[in-house]
Amino acid sequence: MTPESSGDSVKQALRDGILVLTVDNPPVNALGASVRHELRAAIEAAGRDRAVDAILIVGAGRNFIGGADIREFGKLPQLPTLPDVCNAIEASRKPVFAAIHGAALGGGLEVALAAHYRIALGNAKLGLPEVTLGLLPGAGGTQRAPRLIGAKAALDLMLSGRHVGAKEALALGLVDKIGETVDVLAEGLAFAQALLAARAPARKTRDADGLADRTASRAAIEAARAETSKKSHGLFSPLKIVDAVQAALELPFDDGLRHERQLFLQCLDSPQRAGLIHAFLAEREVVKAPETRKAKPRTIASVGVVGGGTMGAGIAVAVLDAGLPVTMIERDEVALARGRAHVEKVYDGLIAKGRMTREAKEATLARWSGSTAYDALGPVDLVIEAVFEEMTVKHAVFAELDRVCKPGAVLATNTSYLDIDALAASISRPGDVVGLHFFSPANIMKLLEVVVPAQVSADVVATAFDLAKKLRKVPVRAGVCDGFIGNRVLAIYRAAADHMMEDGASPYQIDRAVREFAFPMGPFQVSDLAGGDIGWATRKRRAATRDPKARYVQIADRICERGWFGQKTGRGYYLYPDGARAGTADPEVEAIIDAERERAGITPRAFTDDEIIRRYMAAMINEGANVVHQGIALRPLDVDVTFLYGYGFPRHRGGPMKYADTVGLAKVLADIREFAQEDPVFWQPSPLIVDLVERGATLASLNQSA
Ligand code: 3HC
Ligand code: NAI
Repeated sequence: MTPESSGDSVKQALRDGILVLTVDNPPVNALGASVRHELRAAIEAAGRDRAVDAILIVGAGRNFIGGADIREFGKLPQLPTLPDVCNAIEASRKPVFAAIHGAALGGGLEVALAAHYRIALGNAKLGLPEVTLGLLPGAGGTQRAPRLIGAKAALDLMLSGRHVGAKEALALGLVDKIGETVDVLAEGLAFAQALLAARAPARKTRDADGLADRTASRAAIEAARAETSKKSHGLFSPLKIVDAVQAALELPFDDGLRHERQLFLQCLDSPQRAGLIHAFLAEREVVKAPETRKAKPRTIASVGVVGGGTMGAGIAVAVLDAGLPVTMIERDEVALARGRAHVEKVYDGLIAKGRMTREAKEATLARWSGSTAYDALGPVDLVIEAVFEEMTVKHAVFAELDRVCKPGAVLATNTSYLDIDALAASISRPGDVVGLHFFSPANIMKLLEVVVPAQVSADVVATAFDLAKKLRKVPVRAGVCDGFIGNRVLAIYRAAADHMMEDGASPYQIDRAVREFAFPMGPFQVSDLAGGDIGWATRKRRAATRDPKARYVQIADRICERGWFGQKTGRGYYLYPDGARAGTADPEVEAIIDAERERAGITPRAFTDDEIIRRYMAAMINEGANVVHQGIALRPLDVDVTFLYGYGFPRHRGGPMKYADTVGLAKVLADIREFAQEDPVFWQPSPLIVDLVERGATLASLNQSA
């Protein structure tokens, strides 16, 4: 009998002739070099070992296998490759079984597909999500999955990246059986023993007949190609996935594998893969703020929301959706009824789309209560203030909160720009005050800036991060300054866009160039959607403190003075005839721009789309670097996550800081210095960029150090 033996990452144990290989590589049993090496060696040795009748692969801990080790990508490859390991599994003359619990994703599912039989427990999550990382399944997944479950279902899995549960996996034919208990080892052994007793052969997925109906397979591939070309928005890997499945249909299995490998390596080399994996890892890094390491969150079982306007209502919905009760405070009964109506409207929208039942709406709203008296907030654990953006109003609200809230209640403000340090200092418990800056619509947008004032207690910050998790938001820690991370950087690249507009580019060209870069909308479309009046009010508030030497473009003011606030008024930068959602160019706006250029003494010049993007991105990167330099953002990756989740930054570019490294910081600095020749006040290189360029370092190098 083979002795119980332990490689570092693959444990071996023989149970009644079945060699159990337990992949044990925390946290998710990713298929790093040592796992690959030990797995293949164990399979090959088992083939020679007379005591072994069959092999069972399971995962230790909470998952089967989470996939290839994505931290290895971009480094020197180490043998054996994952396709080698999968081929060795499939080639085994002794039956190989996979028993799946938790995640079997990407390479993890490919290992299972290379096994001869599969059982999944009820909690299993199977999928080929490589597309979300800019890749394709590169360990035989594009060849085996279509043979096992047909081209159409395999393409759907690979192009959506979605996870399927055990039941759907069984229905698709991805697994052969669902285990009834939660004991993966016992289920796997019983499954293997039953099949061995029935003399089940080593059945190879490469021989499965899912592509036998060639006409249907070809139609599925062509449909997927057409759909993907339309929808993949400049993404590289989706069409490669379609190509790989076509190879599965047209080539012998081994040639198909070779083709898959070539396509996989192309994806691996693409900057999109680097951007998407950066986004994946950054998203997991942002939640690790220093306060979450040193303090325990307070318990939050109930939430108060002050203000039932756009934000207050959205925040209330986000909290209700997390299963918590909400107490809403408004100025008077009319405003309270309006706040309640805003909340109901969200759920009515879901009902209309068939995504919620009336009963579910009622059950959710049963957790909502409203009052015009602050005393109703006495028992709540956390309050989020979302009243008008005026310091006097906020001060009055916080004085009331100080009076009525129980000791230990967290007092949060959703202010966009105001000084939270001053707000905190105005009450008797500044340690309980934190910024929770939601984005509109607050029940949908994932970003939550957790703004950390000077006097706040660490456990209040930890509570904010904990709440974000409950609300399924992505929290980013930000320091106090005008606009925190996101809006502060936005103000700068918006100004760069305004400068270009005044200098000769039309807002329509700028928006188009920005969309082509893969933002969902350009800055002028965003302004029309959000309402031009909001920015106008901010500009008026700041007029007195504006640097007189700084360039100020007045075009937006001229448009707002006409009452053209965007979609809600039927026109802004664009025309929206009859309530249309998509705008059309407006010659009158172009005339206003011409007049403003003349007033400012500017002779318009042409811009290429490339120059527009260079300026737009340089402004964003430079201010992002300032935000890091001043400690407003902990690391460059915090800026990236802010822009990915709050501002529509194209995920495959990883965020503005990652993009800066991709372009090369030296090049970005050269651009800034070139633009500074025209406007040295606006284009002042961030000291952080200058320093990094001098040292030949990247922004990414700062992500590790915080
Ligand atoms: N490689 C390396 N590290 C990974 C990883 C992977 N494939 N998947 C997750 N991790 C790390 C995370 O970065 C995180 O690290 P940290 O603790 O240092 O922050 C840790 O594992 C835990 O991750 P989560 O917080 O996401 O844990 P959850 O329990 O919430 O989720 C999971 C587990 C569902 C497995 C989720 O991590 C996940 O979706 N992982 C990625 C799955 C994936 O995309 N696999 C395909 C990889 S590409 C591939 O396989 C190519 C092949 O075809 C050749
Ligand atoms: P809004 O004008 O839609 O709503 C404000 C609500 O507060 C109104 O319903 C008003 O009746 C109520 N209110 C005013 N004074 C009050 C008081 N003393 N007590 C109780 N209720 C009172 O404003 P909006 O857009 O919801 O903004 C609220 C806050 O959220 C502001 O600080 C704003 O800067 C911030 N914010 C706004 C975003 C947006 O996109 N609208 C995004 C992120 C933050």
